[in-house]
Amino acid sequence: MLSRLISCNLFSSCLLEFDLADDLKTGDVVMRCTTPANAKMLSEIINCIVNEQEYTTMRVISEDEERSYLESLSEREAVFIAEAGGKIIGMQSIDSPYKWSDKMEHVGKMGTLELKDYRRQGLGKKMAEKTLSFAKLCTYEKIVTFVLADNVSVLRFYKSLGFKRVGTWKKQAKLWGEYKDDILMEIFL
Ligand SMILES: CC(C)(COP(=O)(O)OP(=O)(O)OC[C@H]1O[C@@H](n2cnc3c(N)ncnc32)[C@H](O)[C@@H]1OP(=O)(O)O)[C@@H](O)C(=O)NCCC(=O)NCCS
Repeated sequence: MLSRLISCNLFSSCLLEFDLADDLKTGDVVMRCTTPANAKMLSEIINCIVNEQEYTTMRVISEDEERSYLESLSEREAVFIAEAGGKIIGMQSIDSPYKWSDKMEHVGKMGTLELKDYRRQGLGKKMAEKTLSFAKLCTYEKIVTFVLADNVSVLRFYKSLGFKRVGTWKKQAKLWGEYKDDILMEIFL
C-alpha cells in the first residue's frame, strides 16, 4: 500500500497536509493516489472507456500523454485509483480547470471512469468520499463536472453525490458525426 504525504502549500499562507496512508479499503478494493508510474495502466483503462464510444469525449491517448498529464499535476490536483488484485479498475480525478486564473482557484473539476465489470457496486461513491475530502483540504469551495446529456448513469451518479445541474452547453460535443449537449453540474463543499 502506497503511503504518500501530499502537502498543499496554498496561497503561500497556509500549509495543509493530507496523509494518504489511511488508504480506504472496500472489500478487496484498495484506493490510493496514483503516480506517473501508473501511466500505462491508466491509459489502457481510459482507452477501454473511449472505445465503448458512449461515455466520454476523450480520444484514445498514449501512455506518454497520460504520463505528461500526471507529471503536470500540482499539489492541489490528484488522480485516485481503485485497485483489485493489482489491477486498476477505476479512477477519479480532481484538477483545476482554471490554472491560469487567480480568481477561480476555489473551483475544481472532477472526473470518474470505471471499467465496465465494476460499475454500480458502490465504487464510484466510495472513491468520491476520498476525492471530495481531498478537494476540501485543498481549499476548493466548489467542484464542477461536465456530463454528456444522454449519459444517464453518470448524471444520476453525480446527482447521488449531491451535484446539481446548472446548465447546458448545446452541441458541445460531436460523437461519430452526431452533436451532443453537455450538462454542467456543480457541488459546493
Ligand atoms: C458513472 C460511474 C462513474 C458511476 O460509478 P459507479 O461505481 O457505477 O456508481 P455507484 O455504484 O457508486 O453508484 C452510486 C449511485 O449513482 C447512481 N448510479 C450509478 N450508476 C447508475 C446507473 N447505471 N443507473 C442509474 N443510477 C446509477 C445511483 O444513484 C447509485 O446509487 P444506488 O446504487 O444506491 O442506487 C461509472 O458507472 C462509470 O465509470 N461509467 C462509465 C464512464 C463514465 O461515463 N464516466 C463519466 C464520464 S463524464
